[in-house]
Amino acid sequence: MSRRAHFATKFGVLMATVGSAVGLGNIWRFPYQAGENGGGAFLLTYALAVLLIGIPAMVAEFIVGRESHLNAVGAFKKIAPKKAWGGIGYLGVFTGFMIDCYYCVVTGWTLYYLFLAASDNLLGLSVDQYSLMFSTYSSSVFPPIFALVSVILITGVIVSLGVQKGIETASKIMMPLLFLLLLALAVNSCLLEDSQTGLEFLFIPNWSEFTIDTILSAIGQAFFSLSLGMACLVTYSSYFTDDVNLIGTASKISVIDMGVAVLAGVIIFPAVFTFGMEPEQGPGLVFKVLPNVFSQMPLGYLWSLLFYALLFLAALTSFISITEVVVAYISEAFKISRVKSVILTGLTFTLLGSVCSLSFGPLSGFTIADKNIFDSLDYLATNILLPLGGILTSIFVGWRLDRKVIEKQLNIKGKKGAAFLKVYIFFLRYIVPASVTCVLVTGLLS
Ligand code: TRP
Repeated sequence: MSRRAHFATKFGVLMATVGSAVGLGNIWRFPYQAGENGGGAFLLTYALAVLLIGIPAMVAEFIVGRESHLNAVGAFKKIAPKKAWGGIGYLGVFTGFMIDCYYCVVTGWTLYYLFLAASDNLLGLSVDQYSLMFSTYSSSVFPPIFALVSVILITGVIVSLGVQKGIETASKIMMPLLFLLLLALAVNSCLLEDSQTGLEFLFIPNWSEFTIDTILSAIGQAFFSLSLGMACLVTYSSYFTDDVNLIGTASKISVIDMGVAVLAGVIIFPAVFTFGMEPEQGPGLVFKVLPNVFSQMPLGYLWSLLFYALLFLAALTSFISITEVVVAYISEAFKISRVKSVILTGLTFTLLGSVCSLSFGPLSGFTIADKNIFDSLDYLATNILLPLGGILTSIFVGWRLDRKVIEKQLNIKGKKGAAFLKVYIFFLRYIVPASVTCVLVTGLLS
């Protein structure tokens, strides 16, 4: 291999990719979706969506990344029979750019709440007061911008240190810490008085709430949670060495990602029900309801500190992975140093992230189809651009990419291998594009 950067160890590969996958999508989005969509029924559907759609799509991104050892755009251009396929890479970088602009805002909120928890300024208020506190904070001008700039600075330092010294080292420290926090919090929740009600809400299959929408939500959730559809894993896998087993890695990431999502539910619901709260969606749950839950819990200071540390680490490592897509593209395409690329990207994200943040305050009157700037970016990226990127990538690998490349990357040999390859290609050609197209169409109609 050339002198291009690569991950040094297999453990580093796993921690970096899991760091990308485990994020806000696991900790607040998954538990709520599961609760709403029939508990165990959703879990089962989600597991199937990961197995049948998530893993094949992830392996497709890995093939493109490791075959080319290039950034998102360069990767598709290098191995595409027709150069127009490079468009998938541009779409990925553009989507990553958009997601970064609002992901830094939410990561900033988690940093602020971590700071409140650590300085013992979080506990002791009522739910209404927490609601007011969150809306006052998120709609103010400087505090959230200060937080998002801090997130961009931390990320900038890590990413500019490079693939091995920066991303790999940071992931190898942060992810095991995240797992420890997760376990400690989950055990604590299970020991709470009314943990049973919460666990039932999460696990008991309730087939009466099972509809086509459940399936589509599960596929959409699998896509976002596994970091698919914007060449993020193309970029990371371009740093894989040849001895990394792509299918094995994709399976491990998927199992861990799902495990973290389920444990997040195990942390949240027993606590929410024990203290007589209603599970609420999204930012409302983690920033308005949970502080009150921690206030009532024995050793609340400790548990709130651990929880917001967990949330911040999860968000930060995902933010790093999205940023790397943009940074790698800019530095390789325009042949500038990684540090310069980080500075350029960081300044742009500071500017656009601030605009997103202000869309909860002074700029809230500025709306597109009734959505503020933050919500519009989120909608466009997650409901439209990510599914589109996923469909195009699977079509490209399934229909256009030379089979020899797939055989080589997946190390396919013998009769069994040939049969496996047939099934895999069938999934990439039909199952993945068709099901993700359904998600895209419902997303457009919603
Ligand atoms: N998977 C992360 C989460 O669950 C978010 C994320 C990181 C992502 N990189 C991505 C989502 C790439 C889509 C595409 O929060």
